[in-house]
Amino acid sequence: EKDGHDWFMRKEIFEQPRAVADSLLGRRAADGRLQLDEMRLDDAELRDIDKIIIIAAGTSYYAGMVAKYAIEHWTRISVEVELASEFRYRDPILTHSTLVVAISQSGETADTLQAIRHARMQRSKVLAICNTNGSTIPRESDGVIYTHAGPEIGVASTKGYVTQLVACYLLALYLAQVKGTLFGDEINNVMDQLDDMPGHLETVLSQAENVYDFARAHVDTTSVLFLGRHAGYPVALEGALKLKELAYIHAEGFAAGELKHGPIALIDEGLPVFCIVPPRGRDQLHDKMLSGIQEVRARGARTICLAEVDDDTIEPYADTLIRLPKVPVLLQPLVAVIPLQLFACELATAMGNDVDQPRNLAKSVTVE
Ligand code: F6R
Repeated sequence: EKDGHDWFMRKEIFEQPRAVADSLLGRRAADGRLQLDEMRLDDAELRDIDKIIIIAAGTSYYAGMVAKYAIEHWTRISVEVELASEFRYRDPILTHSTLVVAISQSGETADTLQAIRHARMQRSKVLAICNTNGSTIPRESDGVIYTHAGPEIGVASTKGYVTQLVACYLLALYLAQVKGTLFGDEINNVMDQLDDMPGHLETVLSQAENVYDFARAHVDTTSVLFLGRHAGYPVALEGALKLKELAYIHAEGFAAGELKHGPIALIDEGLPVFCIVPPRGRDQLHDKMLSGIQEVRARGARTICLAEVDDDTIEPYADTLIRLPKVPVLLQPLVAVIPLQLFACELATAMGNDVDQPRNLAKSVTVE
């Protein structure tokens, strides 16, 4: 049942290319336009949306943070991302032109469910992004985009997360199509890049042994830091969450630009630091990340850097270098999260922890 793997989690990590492919299936109509079958919100309603609030918990919340970058960039609709457990208690501004997007793998998370009930009472439309057919959250929403990860057994979410990212990209592109903020060929171009993702994920998975070596070399560590920028920042947060859940050690994700505002004081001889390097582009994100890496390295950090395949600037500062396929920065979370998942799984295994059933955690949190 684990397909020869030691843990369901590891099996599910390696299932991600298939899960992503399944989540993309049937989304393009014969005329080339994007279609979202179970959406149930008509285009006229969507055209009126002037604000989006994404609500979720844990890993799903980090998928929501990535979604904000994509939706705002492609649609120019402003997006807030909010923890479901905080949402109701701050008297959020909700109108009939606010779209609330609830992201939940299980569809049963109590905080998220209460949040959508609150939103609907205020007349806002609710769209669920969910992996579980017929679960409560999609049943109580106006529309749903189902992810097709298949059942996720490991308590730590992996294939659930990457398929949520895919659904978020599809939603963003669909809204851009409805609003006319992207041309048809621009949407097709991103869809083509998404269609290439399963192969890209395989390429990253094929480097698993390098990640495992880095994990085994740090089995005695008491802390790990994760640095990212732009869409790589929420990925850093997700990497840290995976590690807390599974290895029970201190782990923290930072926006790399924040380093000098405090966190750099944490860097000490031998501290493992994950660095998610943005693609080289017209902006200066890449070069700024590079200088962050140089700074932590100069203070004794052990770096594992995830950088594009032809990026020749990182090598001198990486103790371990994982090569990422060339993808736009907005889509990079899909490939960048994989080494972080592999690392958490392997470090926890080396520590002798139960990866599939981490202490104190349940797969779906049905109490508030
Ligand atoms: C982390 C994890 C949790 C869930 C969170 C939300 O690996 O699995 O943080 O992401 O409890 O769960 P769903 O998505 O089912 O609402």
